[in-house]
Amino acid sequence: MLVRVRVNGECRTAEVWPGASLLAMLRDSLGLPGSKDACEQGECGSCSVWLDGILVCACLVLAAQAEGRDVRTVEGLAPEGHLHPVQQAFVEAGAVQCGFCTPGFIVAAADLLKWNPSPNEAAIREALSGNLCRCTGYQKILEAVRLAASRMQEADRG
Ligand code: FES
Ligand code: FES
Repeated sequence: MLVRVRVNGECRTAEVWPGASLLAMLRDSLGLPGSKDACEQGECGSCSVWLDGILVCACLVLAAQAEGRDVRTVEGLAPEGHLHPVQQAFVEAGAVQCGFCTPGFIVAAADLLKWNPSPNEAAIREALSGNLCRCTGYQKILEAVRLAASRMQEADRG
């Protein structure tokens, strides 16, 4: 079947089998491997994307459900050659080890800061509770989100 979707601002068409997930379509048909495929069961958050502005696990959404809708992936977070403040903070805080979980954490953290620019510790932990990391012990990731939040607030204050 053909699925027409807007991905990172661009209209795309993909040919997929009717049972294909949005994640499979992004990675295998549309050449966007940033969203990772770790569990395919909605358990790890590594496939997090926005669907019509709402954070979802792309492995739990059928490609067909994305027909005519707007998808934003980690590849669309910042203009080419630039890092989103959350990405920059992850680098600076040393929150990336193997990197497999990183795109999902970046998307989840960016989503949090979009809705809540000054989250407290509980809000950060809650927002990232659907994302699993096997390497970092989470402390550096939490530090990165705090850093990104303070930088983005500073930027907003001008
Ligand atoms: S691959 Fe989708 S939640 Fe793990
Ligand atoms: S950095 Fe390896 S799983 Fe998180």
